[in-house]
Order: sequence, then C-alpha cells, then structure tokens
Amino acid sequence: MTETSEAPQPQAGLEPGAEAGRVLKVALLGGGTVGSQVARILLDDAEALAARAGARLELVGIAVRNVDAPRDVELPRGLYTTDAEGLVDSADLVIELMGGMEPARTHILAALRRGASVVTGNKALLAQDGATLFDEADANGAELNFEAAVAGAIPIIRPIRESLSGDRITRVLGIVNGTTNFILDAMDTTGAQFADVLAEAQRLGYAEADPTADVEGLDAAAKAAILASLAFHTRVSLDDVRCEGITKVSAADIAAAQDAGLTIKLLAIAELVPLEAAGGPGGDLDGAAAVPREGVSVRVHPTLLPRTHPLAAVRGAYNAVFIEAENAGSLMFYGAGAGGAPTASAIMGDVVTTARRLLAGSPGRTGTATRTLPLVGPEAVTTSYSIGLEVADQPGVLARVAAVFAEHGVSIETMRQRIDGAEPAVEGAGRPEGRRAELRFVTHRASEAALAATVADIKNLDVVESVTSVLRAEGV
Ligand code: HSE
Repeated sequence: MTETSEAPQPQAGLEPGAEAGRVLKVALLGGGTVGSQVARILLDDAEALAARAGARLELVGIAVRNVDAPRDVELPRGLYTTDAEGLVDSADLVIELMGGMEPARTHILAALRRGASVVTGNKALLAQDGATLFDEADANGAELNFEAAVAGAIPIIRPIRESLSGDRITRVLGIVNGTTNFILDAMDTTGAQFADVLAEAQRLGYAEADPTADVEGLDAAAKAAILASLAFHTRVSLDDVRCEGITKVSAADIAAAQDAGLTIKLLAIAELVPLEAAGGPGGDLDGAAAVPREGVSVRVHPTLLPRTHPLAAVRGAYNAVFIEAENAGSLMFYGAGAGGAPTASAIMGDVVTTARRLLAGSPGRTGTATRTLPLVGPEAVTTSYSIGLEVADQPGVLARVAAVFAEHGVSIETMRQRIDGAEPAVEGAGRPEGRRAELRFVTHRASEAALAATVADIKNLDVVESVTSVLRAEGV
C-alpha cells in the first residue's frame, strides 16, 4: 500500500480511508476481453470504487504480449507494457487474467511471495495446482481470490466460502459451461443433431473454433474441482474429476427425454457420499472424528433432469449452480457464465473485497482445505440410468432384456417402447419379419458396476441390435 503525495481531492461520499489519500497499486496481467473490461471499470468508476474500497485503486499498468495489438476497449496506450515481472514487483494487488498455466503461475507466486494479494479468473491453474497457490498465499499472509474462475458473473465462490461457511453443504449441481448448455438447449428446441448445432453455435460465436475443452466437459471439470474443494473443504484437483462430454448426445436421446418429461444438461456434480455405499474405508477426518464416514465424488456428464427441476429452466448460454446444504436447504445461483463485462464484474468484486481487507490489515483465511476427505470414484456412487436399446420386435424380447436387469439387481422404474414403421395392415396379423423396436429403460438408483455389467450382458443378447445410449439421471 502506498501513501501518496498526489492524494486525490476529498470527494463527497468517499470513506475516511480514501479521503486520507490511501492508494493501492493495481497491476493487471492480460489485456484481452475480460482484462480490457476490468481496466475500463477501474478507470471509469475510480471514484465509486475508492468510496467502496476505502482507497484509490491506481491501475499502474497492463501486461500484454503485444502493446500494439488491437483492443476491444480504448485505453491510454501508456498503460500497456510487456514487462509483467516489473509490474508485479510494483503492485499491492495483482489481477491475473492471462489464463493457462505459465507464465500466469510464476507471476501469481511471485506476487504472493512479495505479500501482494492476487485476484485471478484462472480456473485451469486453480484446478490443477490450486494447492501450491493457496499454500503460498497462506505462508505470506496474502489474499488469493477467484470469483471469476467459476460461472463468470455469478457470485458463487464467495457464497460457498463465506455465506455458507457455517452450514454443511452436501451437494453441488452446476451448469457451469455456457457453450454446452447453448448446444443442448438448441438441440432440445430444434430437434437437430449435435454436429449441426455445434456448427451453428460456432457460426454465431457461442462456440470456439476448437470447441474441445467445452464439448468434452474439460472446462466444466476444472470448475467442478474448484467448487468441490470449497464446498467440502478438501483438496480436489482436475485429475480427480470423472469427465464425460456431450458429443455422444443424439437427437434421439433428446426426443426420448422430452417424451419422458425430462431434459438433458451437462452437469458438474460434487457430492458427499456415505462410504458404506462403497464398502471401503475413509470418511470425515474433520475435527475429533477418528472414524472416516464419507467421501467426495466429483464428476461431469450429460444428465437427464426432470423438466420441473430449477436447473432445467436454464436456457441458452446461461449458467447456474444449485446447492443443497443441511440447514439452508436448496439454493440456486443463476446468471451469465462468460463474457467480458460479466466476468469483469466478478473480478471487480474481488478487487474491492481484497482492497478492504488489505486496508484492514488482515487477509483473512485464504486456504479452505481443512480436512482430507477421500475422493471416491464412480463405483461409490449410485445413480438412476436411462438405457436406450434397438431390439428385434419379436415376442419375448422384452422379457429377456428385463431378466438381465433382474440378474444384476438393477431395478427398472419405467420402460417406453417405440416401434419403427407402420402398424400391421390386418389386425392380428402380427409384426412383419425384421421389424425393430426402440426400448428406453429408466432404472432406480444402481451402482455403476451393476449397470455396466447389465449393459454388457444386454449387448450380448442375440435379439439386441445395439445399445444406443446410456445416460445418468438426477431427480427422476
Ligand atoms: N468456455 C466457457 C463456457 C466460458 O462456454 O462457458 C469460460 O469458462
């Protein structure tokens, strides 16, 4: 923090700290879509921000790769520099918006080592190496805030870290990737296939030219790891997240879901799982509890949801996070999950909060991993499943398929059948040879192992042409 001789004139509405000429030097690393908006807000709203933070937030520079590159927002050219290291060395507060692992990681660690606080939106870095950053922040009494790393503008990190810190969160369900929600919603609305909707989403700028990180669920998995770490106060990294994207979701899956009053969403799911279900050791090591009782499961996959579920109402590229907590009950947080100005809003909230704490002389507690719950694989989780089959339309087929479910202890909740082709011309004439039927089963909750064994045996039945889809369901 700097006491400056160029203190701004006292402004109406300024808090005492700002009036006293207190200044925090702010370095911005990255001048892209979000960085430009953050710089715009810092410059345009300087007075209001000073009033709220209690100090003038002085933008000392913006580190970029090329100072001459065209920008979304026109800013004083003198702010741009390629010397990120020098900028970090001069700052009280560093905003990292470079993204990716390096050099972002090096700059963040350098800032924290100096005792400077850091605000970042870098989900990939936090998900892969958050522990190192938190340890460095703790060791130096520095703040590390990252509201923008998950679900853009939606305040979700602070509610989990602070508002719900006196509660026990049991489950987090999130639509945390706008691209995939846009695609699934468009498939639901138009009946089109995934590839066609993806091409249209790319044309409209909703999907990247290389959409892999989004459609394969990797972006959502990084956010799931961050949410799980905070919700369950335990360290979860990207490698702990089981991840399946939306590329295999077909128009037929969507149509069948609609027929059953369901919709398909790509969900990031993090939940506490009783370990008895896994039959294994582990559990709650919090406080004095010596006997582990529960673990954490974190996964991302396309999920069937009742159309009445609050998350089913999340349309287009919007995001939402649904939290279940022991005392608060169910909560939902909804809003824009990406974009320059919305993400900059989350960054600025962190900047003001961080500034206030710096002025108060207390960084607070930055790391939240206070226990080591075991991370459990899908084998420890029971879920409802929807299984689609193409079968020969012959007497006894349904009974044979149903028998396989029974053999593996998987209980069927509903079954729907759709017959290809026309009805028989003469009543009682029976089905023509070679006709096929599509069967869709929804099961009661079953373990992944029992379901996998069921599907493997169903595939081997001579009357089954193919297993067309296996989808997990929540809340059915
Ligand atoms: N690509 C992400 C999405 C936004 O589609 O939601 C950044 O995390």
